[in-house]
Amino acid sequence: MAKRILVTSALPYANGSIHLGHLVEYIQTDIWVRAQKMLGHEVHYVCADDTHGTPVMLKAEQENLSPEQLIERVHKEHSQDFYDFGIQFDNYYSTNSPENRQLCEEIFNSLSDAGLIDEKEVEQFYDPLKQMFLPDRYVKGTCPKCKTPDQYGDSCEACGATYCPTDLIEPYSTVSGAKPDRKTSTHLFFKLSDARCEHFLREFTQNTDRLQPEAANKMKEWLGEAGEAKLSDWDISRDAPYFGFPIPGTSETKFFYVWLDAPVGYFGSFLNYLANHESLKTATLTQDFLRPGGNTELIHFIGKDILYFHALFWPAMLEFSKFRTPTKIFAHGFLTVDGQKMSKSRGTFITARSYLESGLEPESLRYYYAAKLNDSMEDIDLNLSDFMARVNSDLVGKYINIASRSANFLAKKFDGKLSDISVTNNEVVCYFFECSENIADAFEARQYSKGIREIMALADRANTYIDTQKPWELAKSESDLNLKKLHEVCSVAINLFKILTVYLKPVLPTLAADVEQFLAIDALQWSDSKRCLPTKHVINSYQHLMGRIDPKLIDKLITLNNQKPIKSKTQSNRPKPKKMATEKTIAENTTDITIDAFNKIDLRIGKIIEAENVEGADKLVRLKIDLGGEQRQVFAGIKSAYNPEDLKEKLVVVVANLKARKMRFGESQGMVLAASGEESGIFLISPESGAAPGMQVK
Ligand code: MSP
Ligand code: ZN
Repeated sequence: MAKRILVTSALPYANGSIHLGHLVEYIQTDIWVRAQKMLGHEVHYVCADDTHGTPVMLKAEQENLSPEQLIERVHKEHSQDFYDFGIQFDNYYSTNSPENRQLCEEIFNSLSDAGLIDEKEVEQFYDPLKQMFLPDRYVKGTCPKCKTPDQYGDSCEACGATYCPTDLIEPYSTVSGAKPDRKTSTHLFFKLSDARCEHFLREFTQNTDRLQPEAANKMKEWLGEAGEAKLSDWDISRDAPYFGFPIPGTSETKFFYVWLDAPVGYFGSFLNYLANHESLKTATLTQDFLRPGGNTELIHFIGKDILYFHALFWPAMLEFSKFRTPTKIFAHGFLTVDGQKMSKSRGTFITARSYLESGLEPESLRYYYAAKLNDSMEDIDLNLSDFMARVNSDLVGKYINIASRSANFLAKKFDGKLSDISVTNNEVVCYFFECSENIADAFEARQYSKGIREIMALADRANTYIDTQKPWELAKSESDLNLKKLHEVCSVAINLFKILTVYLKPVLPTLAADVEQFLAIDALQWSDSKRCLPTKHVINSYQHLMGRIDPKLIDKLITLNNQKPIKSKTQSNRPKPKKMATEKTIAENTTDITIDAFNKIDLRIGKIIEAENVEGADKLVRLKIDLGGEQRQVFAGIKSAYNPEDLKEKLVVVVANLKARKMRFGESQGMVLAASGEESGIFLISPESGAAPGMQVK
């Protein structure tokens, strides 16, 4: 029976770019949605930008824009990024919409009528200069324990101490630099501690059909034992100035906290989608999908960091305002790059745009993520050399290879026409048919890595079939029997390739569309995995479908991300604080190290004795450097700033004990120091005259 499903991905914040971490989620959801649609289910996939809150408001101000202008620009950028990665939303909207505002008001009024809204006094930091309340992350000060300056209000990055924001010594507002006051105001709370909420949430979160076991366990921790009253009421209001929806009855002095209106944005986007599609514009869709008892499913894909909001606050809001609650919440882990958290300073904070600019194919990333994703909340790691090896060997070496090995014989010997004898009973073809359910189940259960393993095992099997049938030998002989056999073998191979394409289509939709064109067939549905192409069907001549990843593109991606100015996340969101502006920038960018750590770096004076541009590298110059008796080869990214001829005889500072690194052009045995900033230009560091090669720099 066809299911009816509303699917969402979390709404990305409108104050930043889409990066490869985000894409784990959107690609995961998109693959799921495409698979379910191919299987014939009615699926509506909606998303939106999460536009409200303090960071957006401040960022807009910093860029001299209104919040509306900023979010409009970001909406365009995000939409383009998603489109380019093949993320096919049925609607991509904004939380700053009339639909969303109306829904929020309705939900709030219902909760209010149910006696679940409370008022309480809250004391908070207040910036007297900006005349606004400050979220804790906008207050910094000196750590009360180790006295390191410029630490956030909850913990110290230097000594690890945790404390209350009020304990900070000399606190300052990172918005204006002013010393913040403490000020009280009345806030509105959603009474999660109410027995009705607690009872509902206990039941809601312990259903493992709805939450993964790991997530259900987390919820148990958060909820505590029955009667333990671990849930506190949730503060849902913020005082003006705030970019958000005014709370009814507060004369625009209070606004809904962004996390109240954000998930409601899922429904806002859905309503907007219905309104824009004549064929869907029926009262029953709203009723079926947004109200209880509609016999439809609501599925949220989210990252593990926002489980709390989706499994507690959001369902409770819905339950007590007479909306339907989520059917399933699918949480995934975080992306790491080379085993570490993405980081701007390590150049591993890779934006979706820079990936595209490097020339790498979006579908390579989709494939790699699919090959790694499963239904758990474990993190997944992106390792660029593994990425390249995996895509090259699986997709090009195994899958595409099947088509290229057989299509040419069909074209040359049979005018592209498949055999007139049915291959439906071929043993390998039958085996491919049989795997259809298993692979569909793997997609449905979000066991993509398992699905991909099975698909690649099938590709191996197809290649083994070709290897044993040896079409290239059959093609050499002119006997009728051999020719007939050749025709059969190639027809089998093309059918196997088609079935594999069905299985891979949720992951590789663009490539699948090219294959459909090549095979001259309609858009493949899942049911096509149990069916052969008609006998005597004529395919088009083979066109190049996909090539190996060129290592140069990987280098380019790395360079693109290394060049980005190193800026900490919060710093880029706000003006520099007034005092000690420059020192603060450095402190924010780097972690303190001890003198011992510094002494581990062996800095030496070197003299450049040879310099030449590296063929095939946009940025690199190959240097031969004399370190006083020892010579080193170093590749330096300074081509844009220096002419090799001008470099000879120059004295530079070299990191002499940097681990040698193999590059495509040879080994780099050290590094030369150079200065660069946000403005263009690279400046080599040289000593005063008198320094000689080999001298130590301390
Ligand atoms: N705006 C909120 C979500 C509101 S939903 C009603 C938010 N936005 S976000 O831009 O920070 O993240 C959007 C989604 O991307 C979240 O599900 C988040 O978990 C996910 N990811 C962000 N960084 C990620 C990684 N590095 N790795 C994997 N997923 C990541 O949260
Ligand atoms: Zn400290």
